[in-house]
Amino acid sequence: MSRFNTVTPRKGTRSVKWDMAEDLYQDKEVLPMWVADMDFQIPEAVKKALQDRVEHGIFGYTWPDNLIKNKITGWLDKRHNWEVEADWITYSPGVIPSLHMIIQALTQEKDPVLIQTPVYPPFYSVVKDHERELITNPLEFTGDRYEINFEDFEQKIKNHQVKMFILCNPHNPVGRVWTKDELIKMSEICVKHDVMIIADEIHADLIFSGHTHIPIASLNEDINQRTVTCLSPTKTFNLAGLQASYLVTANKELREQIDQQFKNQGMVMLNTLGITAMEAAYEYGEEWLEELNQTLENHRDYVMKRFQEETQSIRVLPAEGTYLLWLDCRSLGLEQKDLKSFMQTQAKVGLNDGASFGEEGEGFMRINIAAPMSILEDGVTRIIEAVHQNE
Ligand SMILES: Cc1ncc(COP(=O)(O)O)c(C=O)c1O
Repeated sequence: MSRFNTVTPRKGTRSVKWDMAEDLYQDKEVLPMWVADMDFQIPEAVKKALQDRVEHGIFGYTWPDNLIKNKITGWLDKRHNWEVEADWITYSPGVIPSLHMIIQALTQEKDPVLIQTPVYPPFYSVVKDHERELITNPLEFTGDRYEINFEDFEQKIKNHQVKMFILCNPHNPVGRVWTKDELIKMSEICVKHDVMIIADEIHADLIFSGHTHIPIASLNEDINQRTVTCLSPTKTFNLAGLQASYLVTANKELREQIDQQFKNQGMVMLNTLGITAMEAAYEYGEEWLEELNQTLENHRDYVMKRFQEETQSIRVLPAEGTYLLWLDCRSLGLEQKDLKSFMQTQAKVGLNDGASFGEEGEGFMRINIAAPMSILEDGVTRIIEAVHQNE
């Protein structure tokens, strides 16, 4: 049996996904398929490294030294064909903290910052919380997938004199892995109008066959010099609770400003166990990751097939990466609040509300497929049966 079929109960572990679900959905029966972490065990070698570190018994201040930076650069080279220098790396407890730091370090109040919607909700708050101006370049749904409206992208940048663009690649929630062509087009516009790029590439390792993740900073030196990339082993290896991530900034001036911002907030260290896990994951995790991606791809195909064969009312977008599927529920003909209530009280599944990703997300819901097949099957069956009861 695949290691990804083992069910490990998570209730009672202070899991946001499982333990907070009861409060959020006010119903013990609701099956949590929301927060973006996985119901899978981490690689054995990472668990062993953590166990050995715990066994040592002392957890004093810990410094992520250059050995770890070498593991990171090795990983980026091997997995993404991207040559990064160890000096370009800044550690951070998470990508969300990084986005907050970067925006404060590199922009001023009222500076226009562009995002592509619908998108991961904190993209809105990192802009608004620091009183920057939010500019949106809505993605266009062609019926099969989402695409970028480059004309609108350039117009918005020009008209609003956009200073910074926050890219989500692979894109949460629409599941696109942006192609080289798309990345080149966006980056040419950014160079032309002198826009900085913040690339949130946290899902970079979770890619399905037929698609390749290209770090936007790896396109050419011009882009490299205007890009800050946020990465993390936590999404890839299911380590989010250990809070260890990093940024890659080739441009020395930008990097110094970012490092200063981290320093000003007293954020210069990493969690001891996070460091241990990051090192072991990048050293030993590749085979596990290959199997994970195959499992997630099978799960995507399974969910698509079930919905295709059993109901016309919900369409699943064919994600190219990530473990988050975007469900087009518009044919159900429900208002967003009724759609949410339908999923929660009738289907009894805890999904993410599509509208939380922006107004373009109305009529959609997001489902997390990173769970053993028995849980996934249960969740999908609940939704399909509820749809049938409603017909
Ligand atoms: C696009 C994106 N960025 C960032 C995060 C969260 O990153 P972190 O847990 O490192 O703050 C997520 C988690 O779902 C995400 O999907």
